[in-house]
Amino acid sequence: MKKILVLASGRGSNFQALIDACKKSDIQGKIVALVSNNPHAEALNKAQQHDIPFFIVGAKNKSEYDEQLLTQCKTLNPDLIVLAGYMKILSKKFIDTFHLKIINIHPSLLPAFAGLHAQKQALEYGSRISGCTVHFVDHGVDTGPIILQTAVPVFPHDTVPDLETRILEKEHATLVQGVILFCDDKLVVQERNVYIK
Ligand code: GRF
Repeated sequence: MKKILVLASGRGSNFQALIDACKKSDIQGKIVALVSNNPHAEALNKAQQHDIPFFIVGAKNKSEYDEQLLTQCKTLNPDLIVLAGYMKILSKKFIDTFHLKIINIHPSLLPAFAGLHAQKQALEYGSRISGCTVHFVDHGVDTGPIILQTAVPVFPHDTVPDLETRILEKEHATLVQGVILFCDDKLVVQERNVYIK
């Protein structure tokens, strides 16, 4: 069983999808803890409800925060770190420490619309198709090797919430699938390419 650590900053619906998949044993792993930068994150309530240990990292400045986060995560010694709506940039040291052990879910078909407000970016651009991407984390913002992507249609009169809802539903399934593959040791990374054994 792989030890999974989840980092989340908000609502935690992706975190909940992982909890459910672990409960059903779809994922051969155990969520060992949730770490959040946000003391008001709804994800923390979900951890509490499911008896998952949680930690809030709060520090005044970025270097102190980065240090505390790294120390906390090293102590938990995870096999996999999942960024499930984690809204902060990880330090270079953190990414190097957990090289190819961090995966992220992003609400667009990367490399289109990296960064914040991806769904709004897709609508403003006039895309006909958007979706979500599960990828390994490297030093860039949403630039790491892509594991899985799922597409959804964009309809002419979609609002941002419409598109967010349509993509979110696919995020849950795609993230769970990515974590299943990781925990089953099915992912082989060669430079930018991820092969599924
Ligand atoms: C998701 O859209 C995720 O892709 C993005 O932030 C949102 C988090 O949603 N990075 P939730 O907290 O998992 O409900």
